[in-house]
Amino acid sequence: MMEAILEVLNLSKSYKIRKGLFQKESFYALRNIELTLKKGEILGIVGESGSGKTTLGKIILRLEKPDGGRVLFKGKSIYELGKNYTKQVSVVFQDPRSSLNPRLRVREIIEEPLIVHGVSDRHQKVLKAVEAVHLGEELLDRKPEELSGGQRQRVAIARALVLEPEIIIADEPTASLDVSVQKEILDLFMELRAKGISVIFITHDIRVVEKISDRMAVMYGGMIMEMGETREVISSPYHPYTKFLLGNVPVRHPSLRKDKNFLEFSQEIPREGCPFRPRCEEAREECAGAIRRVEVNGRIVTCLLY
Ligand SMILES: Nc1ncnc2c1ncn2[C@@H]1O[C@H](COP(=O)(O)OP(=O)(O)O)[C@@H](O)[C@H]1O
Ligand SMILES: [Mg+2]
Repeated sequence: MMEAILEVLNLSKSYKIRKGLFQKESFYALRNIELTLKKGEILGIVGESGSGKTTLGKIILRLEKPDGGRVLFKGKSIYELGKNYTKQVSVVFQDPRSSLNPRLRVREIIEEPLIVHGVSDRHQKVLKAVEAVHLGEELLDRKPEELSGGQRQRVAIARALVLEPEIIIADEPTASLDVSVQKEILDLFMELRAKGISVIFITHDIRVVEKISDRMAVMYGGMIMEMGETREVISSPYHPYTKFLLGNVPVRHPSLRKDKNFLEFSQEIPREGCPFRPRCEEAREECAGAIRRVEVNGRIVTCLLY
């Protein structure tokens, strides 16, 4: 059993949204999330747009505050760890075009976290990070616009690596890239894993999670519907939503598409009971009531079928 480096305990987060002209309503972007990240593993988080993946990442990065629940890094609450925590946990976002400062040169972009944390020996550390992502040193004097999409994402990863973090949160890091470049970036994350870095890899694409993750959590409506070893979940999915993502079953509402805007999407999700039930082929009356989370063959499933 590998040790847990990060534990998320009963985490919830609600947002207020406008309803009509004057009313506001709150809804849960995350509900009772429980997960652990082990040292040196890639944990995939998969779900459609609006399922709460980014919110979860932001809370772990301390960019958002939860309403309830806790996040522990090596057994300690992340809110008790001060600035040292931000050195240990870094982030790679989807679109390097907007996450990299266009006015800075690659060298400055990668060096910036070292300056923020008052780290010395910066030149050596920048070179080491650039080497880890297989970028040529000659690119250090360029600006982001003078790089390809894949090179830009490597710069973003080098920047995330430069403080030698223990955890990287990667939020859709390949979503803006061509398929061939996507594969190179996925390979790079697997190299990072081999160096002992733990990764939370967020994506809407279950085929990406299949390729890259050791364990995976499937999210819908702010909840973890299913979680387990990736190989097992992919080869025999338990939850109807996982089956849907794998293309194994039809869904009830063809009007629900991935590109629907967030507001509409969140209104389709019932506030009580299983969030997936309006789309679920297996839904029954009880699904509107209590939610049950069980462990079946080492798999966590949030579904009354089990
Ligand atoms: N700052 C915010 N204010 C209000 N609602 C938000 C905010 N951020 C996210 N949401 C809502 O929370 C839900 C989950 O969003 P998000 O975590 O971005 O999902 P994902 O990354 O899976 O697409 C969505 O319905 C989204 O509209
Ligand atoms: Mg997101």
